[in-house]
Amino acid sequence: MSDRDQVRIFDTTLRDGEQSPGCSMNFAEKRRLAHQLERLGVDIIEAGFPISSDGDFQAVQAVTQEVRRPVIAALARCCQDDIERAWQAVKSAARPRIHTFLATSDIHLLHKLRISRRECLERARDSVRLAKSLCEDVEFSPEDATRSDTDFLCEVLEAVIDAGATTINIPDTVGYAVPEEYAELIRTLRQQVRGIAKVTISAHCHNDLGLAVANSLAAVSAGVRQVECTINGIGERAGNASLEELVMAMRVRPDRYPYKTAVVSEQLFPASQLLTEITGVPVQPNKAIIGQNAFAHEAGIHQDGMIKNALTYEIMTPQSVGVPFTRLVLGKHSGRHALRLRCEKLGFQLDRYELDLVYRLFLALADRVKVIDDYSVLDLVRQVRIAGASAQRSSTEAGSNVDIDPRSPAHPSPGGDPLLASRLIPTRNETEQQEDYLWGV
Ligand code: KIV
Ligand code: ZN
Repeated sequence: MSDRDQVRIFDTTLRDGEQSPGCSMNFAEKRRLAHQLERLGVDIIEAGFPISSDGDFQAVQAVTQEVRRPVIAALARCCQDDIERAWQAVKSAARPRIHTFLATSDIHLLHKLRISRRECLERARDSVRLAKSLCEDVEFSPEDATRSDTDFLCEVLEAVIDAGATTINIPDTVGYAVPEEYAELIRTLRQQVRGIAKVTISAHCHNDLGLAVANSLAAVSAGVRQVECTINGIGERAGNASLEELVMAMRVRPDRYPYKTAVVSEQLFPASQLLTEITGVPVQPNKAIIGQNAFAHEAGIHQDGMIKNALTYEIMTPQSVGVPFTRLVLGKHSGRHALRLRCEKLGFQLDRYELDLVYRLFLALADRVKVIDDYSVLDLVRQVRIAGASAQRSSTEAGSNVDIDPRSPAHPSPGGDPLLASRLIPTRNETEQQEDYLWGV
Protein backbone atom coordinates (compact mmCIF):
# COMPACT_ATOMS: atom_id res chain seq x y z
CA MET A 1 0.00 0.00 0.00
CA SER A 2 1.32 3.45 -0.86
CA ASP A 3 0.90 6.70 1.06
CA ARG A 4 -1.99 7.46 -1.23
CA ASP A 5 -3.87 4.69 0.57
CA GLN A 6 -3.30 6.24 3.98
CA VAL A 7 -6.48 7.67 5.52
CA ARG A 8 -5.84 10.34 8.14
CA ILE A 9 -7.96 10.24 11.25
CA PHE A 10 -9.15 13.67 12.38
CA ASP A 11 -10.59 13.32 15.84
CA THR A 12 -13.13 15.96 16.82
CA THR A 13 -14.27 14.47 20.14
CA LEU A 14 -12.94 17.56 21.93
CA ARG A 15 -14.86 19.93 19.65
CA ASP A 16 -17.88 18.51 17.76
CA GLY A 17 -18.16 15.67 20.29
CA GLU A 18 -18.09 18.10 23.14
CA GLN A 19 -21.04 19.94 21.60
CA SER A 20 -23.37 17.03 22.38
CA PRO A 21 -25.65 17.34 25.42
CA GLY A 22 -23.94 16.25 28.64
CA CYS A 23 -20.54 15.87 26.98
CA SER A 24 -18.89 19.19 27.73
CA MET A 25 -15.41 18.81 29.19
CA ASN A 26 -13.37 21.08 31.40
CA PHE A 27 -9.74 22.05 31.06
CA ALA A 28 -8.31 19.04 32.92
CA GLU A 29 -10.66 16.58 31.20
CA LYS A 30 -9.74 17.81 27.73
CA ARG A 31 -6.05 17.45 28.51
CA ARG A 32 -6.54 13.91 29.81
CA LEU A 33 -8.47 12.83 26.77
CA ALA A 34 -6.01 14.51 24.40
CA HIS A 35 -3.20 12.39 25.84
CA GLN A 36 -5.25 9.24 25.24
CA LEU A 37 -5.97 10.36 21.66
CA GLU A 38 -2.25 10.69 21.13
CA ARG A 39 -1.72 7.14 22.46
CA LEU A 40 -4.51 6.03 20.13
CA GLY A 41 -2.51 7.37 17.19
CA VAL A 42 -4.96 9.82 15.65
CA ASP A 43 -3.37 12.16 13.10
CA ILE A 44 -5.23 15.34 13.94
CA ILE A 45 -6.89 16.43 17.18
CA GLU A 46 -9.45 19.21 16.87
CA ALA A 47 -8.98 20.49 20.40
CA GLY A 48 -11.74 23.10 20.55
CA PHE A 49 -13.35 26.31 19.39
CA PRO A 50 -11.19 28.93 21.14
CA ILE A 51 -13.45 31.95 20.59
CA SER A 52 -16.32 30.14 22.35
CA SER A 53 -14.91 30.64 25.89
CA ASP A 54 -11.74 31.46 27.78
CA GLY A 55 -11.81 27.94 29.24
CA ASP A 56 -11.82 26.42 25.78
CA PHE A 57 -9.04 28.74 24.64
CA GLN A 58 -6.89 27.67 27.58
CA ALA A 59 -7.66 23.99 27.07
CA VAL A 60 -6.62 24.18 23.39
CA GLN A 61 -3.45 26.01 24.39
CA ALA A 62 -2.61 23.39 27.03
CA VAL A 63 -3.16 20.57 24.53
CA THR A 64 -0.79 22.22 22.05
CA GLN A 65 1.92 22.36 24.70
CA GLU A 66 1.53 18.82 26.03
CA VAL A 67 0.55 16.75 23.01
CA ARG A 68 3.22 17.10 20.39
CA ARG A 69 2.87 14.32 17.81
CA PRO A 70 -0.52 14.96 16.17
CA VAL A 71 -1.58 18.09 14.34
CA ILE A 72 -3.64 20.25 16.71
CA ALA A 73 -6.53 22.08 15.04
CA ALA A 74 -8.70 24.88 16.37
CA LEU A 75 -12.07 25.84 14.90
CA ALA A 76 -12.97 29.35 13.78
CA ARG A 77 -15.91 30.88 11.97
CA CYS A 78 -15.00 32.87 8.88
CA CYS A 79 -14.31 36.12 10.69
CA GLN A 80 -11.20 37.93 11.83
CA ASP A 81 -11.70 37.65 15.62
CA ASP A 82 -12.33 33.92 15.49
CA ILE A 83 -9.37 33.23 13.24
CA GLU A 84 -6.96 35.33 15.28
CA ARG A 85 -8.17 33.73 18.51
CA ALA A 86 -7.80 30.25 17.01
CA TRP A 87 -4.25 31.11 15.96
CA GLN A 88 -3.35 32.43 19.41
CA ALA A 89 -4.56 29.12 20.85
CA VAL A 90 -2.67 26.79 18.49
CA LYS A 91 0.39 28.75 17.49
CA SER A 92 2.69 26.94 19.93
CA ALA A 93 1.66 23.51 18.68
CA ALA A 94 4.35 21.39 17.03
CA ARG A 95 1.99 21.19 14.05
CA PRO A 96 -0.80 23.80 14.25
CA ARG A 97 -3.88 23.97 12.03
CA ILE A 98 -6.63 26.58 11.69
CA HIS A 99 -9.97 25.09 10.67
CA THR A 100 -12.35 27.74 9.41
CA PHE A 101 -15.93 27.19 8.24
CA LEU A 102 -18.81 28.99 6.55
CA ALA A 103 -22.14 27.62 5.40
CA THR A 104 -22.73 27.45 1.65
CA SER A 105 -26.28 26.09 1.39
CA ASP A 106 -29.04 28.52 0.42
CA ILE A 107 -31.02 27.46 3.52
CA HIS A 108 -28.17 28.65 5.76
CA LEU A 109 -27.32 31.72 3.68
CA LEU A 110 -30.92 32.88 3.61
CA HIS A 111 -32.15 32.06 7.09
CA LYS A 112 -29.07 31.97 9.29
CA LEU A 113 -26.35 34.17 7.84
CA ARG A 114 -28.57 36.45 5.75
CA ILE A 115 -25.89 37.01 3.14
CA SER A 116 -25.78 36.48 -0.61
CA ARG A 117 -23.81 33.77 -2.37
CA ARG A 118 -21.34 36.43 -3.53
CA GLU A 119 -20.76 37.65 0.04
CA CYS A 120 -20.35 34.05 1.16
CA LEU A 121 -17.69 33.37 -1.46
CA GLU A 122 -15.78 36.55 -0.63
CA ARG A 123 -15.93 35.94 3.10
CA ALA A 124 -14.71 32.38 2.71
CA ARG A 125 -11.82 33.40 0.45
CA ASP A 126 -10.75 36.37 2.63
CA SER A 127 -10.90 34.25 5.78
CA VAL A 128 -8.76 31.50 4.32
CA ARG A 129 -6.32 34.17 3.14
CA LEU A 130 -6.12 35.60 6.66
CA ALA A 131 -5.73 32.14 8.20
CA LYS A 132 -2.99 31.33 5.69
CA SER A 133 -1.10 34.51 6.60
CA LEU A 134 -0.88 33.09 10.14
CA CYS A 135 -0.64 29.35 9.67
CA GLU A 136 0.64 27.14 6.87
CA ASP A 137 -1.94 24.41 7.52
CA VAL A 138 -5.49 25.66 6.85
CA GLU A 139 -8.67 23.59 6.58
CA PHE A 140 -11.87 25.00 5.14
CA SER A 141 -15.35 23.53 5.64
CA PRO A 142 -18.38 24.64 3.61
CA GLU A 143 -20.96 23.92 6.31
CA ASP A 144 -24.06 22.07 5.07
CA ALA A 145 -22.12 21.15 1.91
CA THR A 146 -24.44 18.25 1.10
CA ARG A 147 -27.45 20.57 0.80
CA SER A 148 -25.54 23.24 -1.14
CA ASP A 149 -25.86 23.93 -4.82
CA THR A 150 -23.04 21.89 -6.36
CA ASP A 151 -21.90 24.53 -8.86
CA PHE A 152 -21.75 27.18 -6.16
CA LEU A 153 -19.93 24.77 -3.86
CA CYS A 154 -17.34 24.20 -6.58
CA GLU A 155 -16.86 27.96 -7.01
CA VAL A 156 -16.30 28.48 -3.27
CA LEU A 157 -13.87 25.58 -3.07
CA GLU A 158 -11.84 26.89 -6.01
CA ALA A 159 -11.63 30.29 -4.33
CA VAL A 160 -10.45 28.91 -0.97
CA ILE A 161 -7.92 26.59 -2.60
CA ASP A 162 -6.53 29.60 -4.48
CA ALA A 163 -6.37 31.43 -1.16
CA GLY A 164 -4.22 28.69 0.34
CA ALA A 165 -6.46 26.03 1.97
CA THR A 166 -4.62 22.74 2.33
CA THR A 167 -7.57 20.57 3.39
CA ILE A 168 -11.11 20.79 2.06
CA ASN A 169 -13.67 19.21 4.35
CA ILE A 170 -17.13 18.31 3.04
CA PRO A 171 -19.56 18.30 5.97
CA ASP A 172 -22.85 16.48 5.89
CA THR A 173 -23.84 18.81 8.70
CA VAL A 174 -27.40 17.58 9.19
CA GLY A 175 -26.81 13.89 8.42
CA TYR A 176 -29.02 14.04 5.34
CA ALA A 177 -26.86 12.35 2.72
CA VAL A 178 -26.94 8.67 1.81
CA PRO A 179 -23.75 6.78 0.87
CA GLU A 180 -24.00 6.65 -2.93
CA GLU A 181 -25.03 10.31 -3.09
CA TYR A 182 -22.22 11.48 -0.81
CA ALA A 183 -19.64 9.47 -2.77
CA GLU A 184 -21.04 10.97 -5.99
CA LEU A 185 -20.60 14.47 -4.58
CA ILE A 186 -16.95 13.73 -3.73
CA ARG A 187 -16.34 12.36 -7.23
CA THR A 188 -17.96 15.44 -8.79
CA LEU A 189 -15.82 17.80 -6.70
CA ARG A 190 -12.69 15.89 -7.66
CA GLN A 191 -13.58 16.28 -11.31
CA GLN A 192 -14.82 19.86 -11.32
CA VAL A 193 -12.89 21.90 -8.74
CA ARG A 194 -9.74 23.41 -10.16
CA GLY A 195 -6.73 22.75 -7.92
CA ILE A 196 -8.43 20.12 -5.78
CA ALA A 197 -5.77 17.51 -6.61
CA LYS A 198 -3.22 19.43 -4.53
CA VAL A 199 -5.29 19.43 -1.31
CA THR A 200 -6.55 16.72 1.01
CA ILE A 201 -10.30 16.07 0.80
CA SER A 202 -12.00 15.23 4.07
CA ALA A 203 -15.35 13.69 5.08
CA HIS A 204 -17.34 14.94 8.06
CA CYS A 205 -20.60 13.07 8.58
CA HIS A 206 -23.36 13.35 11.15
CA ASN A 207 -25.50 10.42 12.13
CA ASP A 208 -29.08 11.68 11.92
CA LEU A 209 -30.09 8.80 9.64
CA GLY A 210 -27.61 6.38 11.23
CA LEU A 211 -25.44 6.60 8.10
CA ALA A 212 -22.43 8.58 9.29
CA VAL A 213 -19.98 5.68 9.15
CA ALA A 214 -21.39 4.29 5.88
CA ASN A 215 -21.21 7.74 4.29
CA SER A 216 -17.64 8.27 5.47
CA LEU A 217 -16.54 4.90 4.09
CA ALA A 218 -18.25 5.61 0.77
CA ALA A 219 -16.37 8.91 0.67
CA VAL A 220 -13.06 7.13 1.33
CA SER A 221 -13.77 4.83 -1.61
CA ALA A 222 -14.49 7.94 -3.70
CA GLY A 223 -11.15 9.52 -2.82
CA VAL A 224 -11.23 11.34 0.52
CA ARG A 225 -8.08 10.80 2.58
CA GLN A 226 -9.13 12.35 5.88
CA VAL A 227 -12.16 11.35 7.94
CA GLU A 228 -13.51 13.39 10.82
CA CYS A 229 -14.96 11.35 13.65
CA THR A 230 -15.36 11.01 17.40
CA ILE A 231 -14.82 8.42 20.11
CA ASN A 232 -18.07 6.57 20.85
CA GLY A 233 -19.62 8.55 17.96
CA ILE A 234 -20.58 11.42 20.26
CA GLY A 235 -21.49 14.74 18.67
CA GLU A 236 -24.29 17.14 17.85
CA ARG A 237 -27.76 15.53 17.91
CA ALA A 238 -27.35 11.87 16.78
CA GLY A 239 -23.57 12.27 16.82
CA ASN A 240 -20.65 12.13 14.41
CA ALA A 241 -19.16 9.14 12.62
CA SER A 242 -17.76 6.78 15.22
CA LEU A 243 -13.96 6.57 15.10
CA GLU A 244 -13.78 2.97 16.31
CA GLU A 245 -16.28 1.76 13.70
CA LEU A 246 -14.50 3.51 10.84
CA VAL A 247 -11.07 2.27 11.82
CA MET A 248 -12.18 -1.31 12.37
CA ALA A 249 -14.22 -1.43 9.15
CA MET A 250 -11.04 -0.61 7.25
CA ARG A 251 -8.99 -3.05 9.30
CA VAL A 252 -11.40 -6.00 9.18
CA ARG A 253 -12.39 -5.54 5.50
CA PRO A 254 -9.21 -4.60 3.60
CA ASP A 255 -10.67 -6.47 0.63
CA ARG A 256 -13.29 -3.70 0.35
CA TYR A 257 -11.40 -0.85 2.03
CA PRO A 258 -7.71 -1.23 1.15
CA TYR A 259 -6.60 1.73 3.24
CA LYS A 260 -4.51 2.09 6.33
CA THR A 261 -4.73 4.37 9.32
CA ALA A 262 -2.17 5.07 12.02
CA VAL A 263 -4.59 4.11 14.79
CA VAL A 264 -3.36 1.69 17.45
CA SER A 265 -6.55 -0.34 17.60
CA GLU A 266 -5.74 -1.80 21.04
CA GLN A 267 -6.24 1.70 22.42
CA LEU A 268 -9.83 1.94 21.18
CA PHE A 269 -11.51 0.43 24.20
CA PRO A 270 -9.39 2.38 26.73
CA ALA A 271 -10.23 5.59 24.84
CA SER A 272 -13.92 4.76 24.90
CA GLN A 273 -13.78 3.97 28.61
CA LEU A 274 -11.96 7.16 29.42
CA LEU A 275 -14.50 9.25 27.53
CA THR A 276 -17.37 7.54 29.33
CA GLU A 277 -15.67 8.12 32.64
CA ILE A 278 -15.09 11.81 31.90
CA THR A 279 -18.54 12.62 30.53
CA GLY A 280 -20.61 10.12 32.52
CA VAL A 281 -22.48 9.39 29.27
CA PRO A 282 -22.69 5.60 28.89
CA VAL A 283 -22.24 3.70 25.64
CA GLN A 284 -25.23 1.67 24.44
CA PRO A 285 -24.56 -2.03 25.22
CA ASN A 286 -24.94 -3.16 21.62
CA LYS A 287 -22.66 -0.44 20.21
CA ALA A 288 -20.28 -1.94 17.64
CA ILE A 289 -16.66 -2.51 18.67
CA ILE A 290 -16.71 -1.05 22.19
CA GLY A 291 -20.21 -1.80 23.56
CA GLN A 292 -20.65 -4.14 26.50
CA ASN A 293 -22.21 -6.81 24.31
CA ALA A 294 -19.91 -6.46 21.31
CA PHE A 295 -18.03 -9.62 22.31
CA ALA A 296 -20.61 -11.26 24.55
CA HIS A 297 -22.10 -14.60 23.56
CA GLU A 298 -25.26 -15.64 25.35
CA ALA A 299 -27.06 -18.09 23.09
CA GLY A 300 -26.10 -21.75 23.58
CA ILE A 301 -25.46 -22.37 19.88
CA HIS A 302 -23.15 -19.36 19.72
CA GLN A 303 -21.32 -20.40 22.86
CA ASP A 304 -20.85 -23.87 21.46
CA GLY A 305 -19.41 -22.39 18.24
CA MET A 306 -17.16 -20.05 20.17
CA ILE A 307 -15.75 -22.87 22.26
CA LYS A 308 -14.93 -24.82 19.10
CA ASN A 309 -13.49 -21.85 17.23
CA ALA A 310 -13.93 -18.12 17.93
CA LEU A 311 -14.02 -17.42 14.17
CA THR A 312 -17.52 -18.90 14.09
CA TYR A 313 -19.03 -15.80 15.67
CA GLU A 314 -16.28 -13.20 15.99
CA ILE A 315 -14.95 -11.19 13.04
CA MET A 316 -12.21 -9.58 15.11
CA THR A 317 -10.66 -10.49 18.43
CA PRO A 318 -11.63 -8.50 21.51
CA GLN A 319 -7.91 -8.00 22.18
CA SER A 320 -7.45 -6.29 18.81
CA VAL A 321 -9.60 -3.40 20.02
CA GLY A 322 -8.30 -3.45 23.57
CA VAL A 323 -11.22 -5.27 25.15
CA PRO A 324 -9.51 -7.42 27.75
CA PHE A 325 -10.67 -10.93 27.06
CA THR A 326 -9.49 -12.86 30.01
CA ARG A 327 -9.53 -16.40 31.24
CA LEU A 328 -8.47 -15.19 34.63
CA VAL A 329 -11.61 -15.28 36.71
CA LEU A 330 -11.88 -12.68 39.43
CA GLY A 331 -13.65 -13.84 42.58
CA LYS A 332 -13.48 -13.50 46.31
CA HIS A 333 -10.13 -15.26 46.49
CA SER A 334 -8.46 -12.78 44.18
CA GLY A 335 -5.98 -10.33 45.62
CA ARG A 336 -5.58 -6.65 44.97
CA HIS A 337 -2.65 -7.20 42.61
CA ALA A 338 -4.84 -9.18 40.24
CA LEU A 339 -7.48 -6.51 40.60
CA ARG A 340 -4.99 -3.75 39.86
CA LEU A 341 -3.75 -5.57 36.74
CA ARG A 342 -7.31 -6.00 35.54
CA CYS A 343 -8.03 -2.30 36.10
CA GLU A 344 -4.90 -1.40 34.13
CA LYS A 345 -5.98 -3.64 31.26
CA LEU A 346 -9.32 -1.88 31.32
CA GLY A 347 -7.54 1.47 30.97
CA PHE A 348 -7.48 2.67 34.58
CA GLN A 349 -4.30 3.45 36.49
CA LEU A 350 -5.42 3.54 40.12
CA ASP A 351 -3.40 5.05 42.91
CA ARG A 352 -3.12 3.04 46.11
CA TYR A 353 -6.00 4.81 47.78
CA GLU A 354 -8.34 4.29 44.83
CA LEU A 355 -7.28 0.68 44.48
CA ASP A 356 -8.02 0.11 48.12
CA LEU A 357 -11.51 1.58 47.77
CA VAL A 358 -12.22 -0.48 44.68
CA TYR A 359 -10.91 -3.59 46.39
CA ARG A 360 -13.20 -3.19 49.39
CA LEU A 361 -16.22 -2.81 47.13
CA PHE A 362 -14.97 -5.74 45.09
CA LEU A 363 -14.79 -8.02 48.16
CA ALA A 364 -18.27 -7.00 49.24
CA LEU A 365 -19.59 -7.87 45.79
CA ALA A 366 -17.60 -11.13 45.64
CA ASP A 367 -19.41 -12.26 48.77
CA ARG A 368 -22.63 -12.16 46.80
CA VAL A 369 -21.68 -13.20 43.27
CA LYS A 370 -19.35 -16.01 42.29
CA VAL A 371 -17.55 -14.37 39.39
CA ILE A 372 -16.89 -10.69 38.88
CA ASP A 373 -16.65 -9.81 35.23
CA ASP A 374 -14.88 -6.86 33.67
CA TYR A 375 -18.00 -4.78 33.43
CA SER A 376 -18.58 -5.10 37.18
CA VAL A 377 -14.97 -4.09 37.78
CA LEU A 378 -15.48 -1.04 35.56
CA ASP A 379 -18.60 -0.23 37.50
CA LEU A 380 -16.74 -0.34 40.80
CA VAL A 381 -13.96 1.88 39.43
CA ARG A 382 -16.50 4.36 38.19
CA GLN A 383 -18.32 4.43 41.53
CA VAL A 384 -15.06 5.24 43.29
CA ARG A 385 -13.98 7.85 40.73
CA ILE A 386 -17.39 9.55 40.74
CA ALA A 387 -17.49 9.60 44.53
CA GLY A 388 -13.91 10.91 44.59
CA ALA A 389 -14.73 13.67 42.11
CA SER A 390 -17.87 14.72 43.94
CA ALA A 391 -16.12 14.68 47.32
CA GLN A 392 -13.31 16.74 45.78
CA ARG A 393 -15.83 19.22 44.42
CA SER A 394 -17.67 19.59 47.75
CA SER A 395 -14.43 19.95 49.68
CA THR A 396 -13.20 22.61 47.22
CA GLU A 397 -16.53 24.41 47.47
CA ALA A 398 -16.40 24.21 51.27
CA GLY A 399 -12.79 25.45 51.18
CA SER A 400 -11.56 22.51 53.23
CA ASN A 401 -9.03 19.78 52.56
CA VAL A 402 -11.30 16.90 53.46
CA ASP A 403 -11.03 13.90 51.21
CA ILE A 404 -13.81 11.49 50.18
CA ASP A 405 -16.38 11.41 52.94
CA PRO A 406 -17.47 7.80 53.28
CA ARG A 407 -20.76 8.83 54.76
CA SER A 408 -21.70 11.26 52.00
CA PRO A 409 -24.73 10.24 49.92
CA ALA A 410 -22.60 10.29 46.77
CA HIS A 411 -20.32 7.71 48.25
CA PRO A 412 -20.11 4.48 46.31
CA SER A 413 -22.11 1.56 47.51
CA PRO A 414 -21.26 -2.02 46.67
CA GLY A 415 -24.34 -3.17 44.84
CA GLY A 416 -26.39 -0.24 46.13
CA ASP A 417 -25.89 -0.65 49.88
CA PRO A 418 -24.78 2.76 51.17
CA LEU A 419 -24.48 1.57 54.78
CA LEU A 420 -22.17 -1.21 53.78
CA ALA A 421 -20.15 1.23 51.71
CA SER A 422 -19.79 3.62 54.62
CA ARG A 423 -18.41 0.82 56.79
CA LEU A 424 -16.10 -0.37 54.05
CA ILE A 425 -14.62 2.82 52.74
CA PRO A 426 -12.20 4.84 54.80
CA THR A 427 -10.87 8.31 54.13
CA ARG A 428 -7.53 8.69 52.41
CA ASN A 429 -5.82 9.25 55.79
CA GLU A 430 -7.29 6.12 57.28
CA THR A 431 -6.15 4.16 54.26
CA GLU A 432 -2.63 5.41 54.58
CA GLN A 433 -2.53 4.18 58.19
CA GLN A 434 -3.84 0.78 57.18
CA GLU A 435 -1.61 0.61 54.18
CA ASP A 436 0.93 -1.81 55.56
CA TYR A 437 -1.23 -4.69 56.57
CA LEU A 438 -3.65 -4.35 53.65
CA TRP A 439 -1.26 -3.70 50.83
CA GLY A 440 0.37 -7.05 50.30
CA VAL A 441 -2.93 -8.92 50.09
O1 KIV B 1 -21.05 19.62 11.02
C1 KIV B 1 -20.43 20.61 10.60
O2 KIV B 1 -20.75 21.21 9.58
C2 KIV B 1 -19.29 21.05 11.39
C3 KIV B 1 -18.38 22.06 10.76
C4 KIV B 1 -17.97 23.12 11.72
C5 KIV B 1 -17.20 21.35 10.18
O3 KIV B 1 -19.04 20.56 12.46
ZN1 ZN C 1 -20.09 18.60 12.65
